[in-house]
Amino acid sequence: VDKLIQRQKLTKEEFIEILKQQDDPDIRELLKEEAIRLRKHYYGTKVFTRGLIEFTNHCKNDCYYCGIRRSNKNAKRFRLSQEDILACCENGYELGFRTFVLQGGEDVWYTDAKLVEIIRRIKTLYPECAVTLSVGEKSYESYKAYKEAGADRYLLRHETADEQHYGVLHPAEMSLANRKQCLYDLKKLGYQVGAGFMVGSPGQSVETLAEDLLFLQELQPQMVGIGPFIPHHDTCFAEKSAGSVEKTLFLLSVIRILLPTVLLPATTALGTMDPQGREKGLLAGANVVMPNLSPLKTRKQYDLYDNKICTGEEAAECRECLDKRIESVGYQLVNERGDAVL
Ligand code: SAM
Ligand code: FES
Repeated sequence: VDKLIQRQKLTKEEFIEILKQQDDPDIRELLKEEAIRLRKHYYGTKVFTRGLIEFTNHCKNDCYYCGIRRSNKNAKRFRLSQEDILACCENGYELGFRTFVLQGGEDVWYTDAKLVEIIRRIKTLYPECAVTLSVGEKSYESYKAYKEAGADRYLLRHETADEQHYGVLHPAEMSLANRKQCLYDLKKLGYQVGAGFMVGSPGQSVETLAEDLLFLQELQPQMVGIGPFIPHHDTCFAEKSAGSVEKTLFLLSVIRILLPTVLLPATTALGTMDPQGREKGLLAGANVVMPNLSPLKTRKQYDLYDNKICTGEEAAECRECLDKRIESVGYQLVNERGDAVL
């Protein structure tokens, strides 16, 4: 723990030692305090917002944990048109959002040309806003085309950095090697890159989590997305237990210390597991929230896991509600692009 706080490079065994102490209240408190000290040092009491636009739930992949995997025949599929997406941005801009996150399944209907046009149109209409993409694994050329069209950031959780565990969560057609390659390609192209993983995914252990932390230490991403795994009733993992809020909070603090300037969201999954989850996330070291800007008519259909929160609220209600929640714990939601400090 001392080595982590002193910002020394850690080995897998050292990460394992830290993870084994997650139930020790003194260690938890020590890490939380240091995480808060660092987030305040770099970001004060600011919390950055990202307007999340879930624009398609069609997916060619079959990740075992995910409610919109291709084999889920019960998923009601949707795609937003370009005009729908731009309407979300307009609404979001008026509400103060200066980052738009376009997230979706790996949907081949959105060709590179279509995505490039959407990115160009958003950047032309809102030049001061950042565009973040989260559309999965693509070729170097595709990532390059999106970057040239104006995309600024890319979220691609690595899901687990342990080869064997990757195989527990995904069919053999997917590989950890390709996932990692994508993240390195994105970095090389100059994106601000986000990796991350679910906490408590089936098969996760202290050893696999240590691999995750080692990988984050190596990759040095500007963003890290972590949230509890939550089972979805129509997936292979329907009967598995959800990840714990406490463990997620512990890991948020560890990641804040490991990567002090990281953009770290208090995720919707955390808010789903605990009504105060996002506030607790901020108090453990997170500095970003990602309210939903998706149209109400499709929001319930972007059904990654059971009981997802905020699926019945207008974007404006989400924004207002979050504003109040965040102020209640002494932070402020700001209307800025919210890039990582260097
Ligand atoms: N297709 C893109 C990709 O794979 O990066 C973006 C969409 S994907 C649905 C976004 C994230 O949702 C995944 O990286 C995964 O970690 C998370 N997710 C999927 N199913 C989940 C579940 N059951 N519980 C918690 N998070 C889940
Ligand atoms: Fe593709 Fe989840 S399986 S987004």
